[in-house]
Amino acid sequence: MGTHIASTIFLLTCFQFLIITNLFIVKVHTCACHSGGEVTGHAPPPGACNTADSSACCADGQVYDIYDCSPPVSHHTKANLTLQSFNYGGAGGQPANCDGQYHSDDDLIVTLSTGWCDSGRRCNKSINIRGNGRRVRAKIVDECVSSGGCDDAHNYKPPCGNTIVRATKAVWSKLGVPETQWNTLVIHWSGA
Ligand SMILES: *[C@@H]1O[C@H](CO)[C@@H](O)[C@H](O)[C@H]1NC(C)=O
Ligand SMILES: *[C@@H]1O[C@H](CO)[C@@H](O)[C@H](O)[C@H]1NC(C)=O
Repeated sequence: MGTHIASTIFLLTCFQFLIITNLFIVKVHTCACHSGGEVTGHAPPPGACNTADSSACCADGQVYDIYDCSPPVSHHTKANLTLQSFNYGGAGGQPANCDGQYHSDDDLIVTLSTGWCDSGRRCNKSINIRGNGRRVRAKIVDECVSSGGCDDAHNYKPPCGNTIVRATKAVWSKLGVPETQWNTLVIHWSGA
C-alpha cells in the first residue's frame, strides 16, 4: 500500500514535471524570435537596386538572416532607428504598402519590421518614439520586410532586421539628432 502511494506520487510528480517542462518549452518557442532561415545575396542586375539614401544592396555570396517575427511589443519596445525616404525615387522604390502613396521626407512616418507590422494590422496607426532624450509621434505606412530579400520582389535589398524602425528625415530631425548621425540610433517605441 505504502509503495503504491509512493509510486503514484512519483508518477504524478513526473507528470507535473513534464507538463511544466512542456509549457516552458512552448513558451520559449513562442516568446523568443529566432532567425527563420537565410537568403544568399546575388549581385543585382545593373540598375535593379536603388541606392538612394546610401541604402545597401545585397552583396554577391553574402548570407543574410531572415525573420518572420519580432520580439514582443511592450510600452517600451527597443528598436534600431534607421533612415528611409518614402519619396518617389526613394530607396524603397515603390509606394508605401499601407496606402499605396509616396510620402514627403517632411512627413512624420515610419516603417516597422515584418513581425511588428503584424500582417498590416498596424498600418496607418501611430507610434511614439523615444530616443535622444526626446519623443516624437509618427504614422506607420509600410512594412520593413524581414522575411525575405535579395531578389527581384524585394528590389535586391537585404532583409530588414527584425528590430527595425525606419523613419523619415522629419522624424530624425524632431528627435534632435544631428544630421551627420542619421544612420542608426537605439530607440524605444510604443503604440500611440
Ligand atoms: C490606410 O489609410 C489610407 C488612407 O489614408 C487607406 O486608403 C488605406 O486603405 C489604409 N490602409 C489600411 C491597411 O488600413
Ligand atoms: C542595433 O544597433 C546596435 C548599436 O548601434 C548594433 O550593435 C546592432 O547591431 C543593431 N542591430 C540591428 C539589427 O541593426
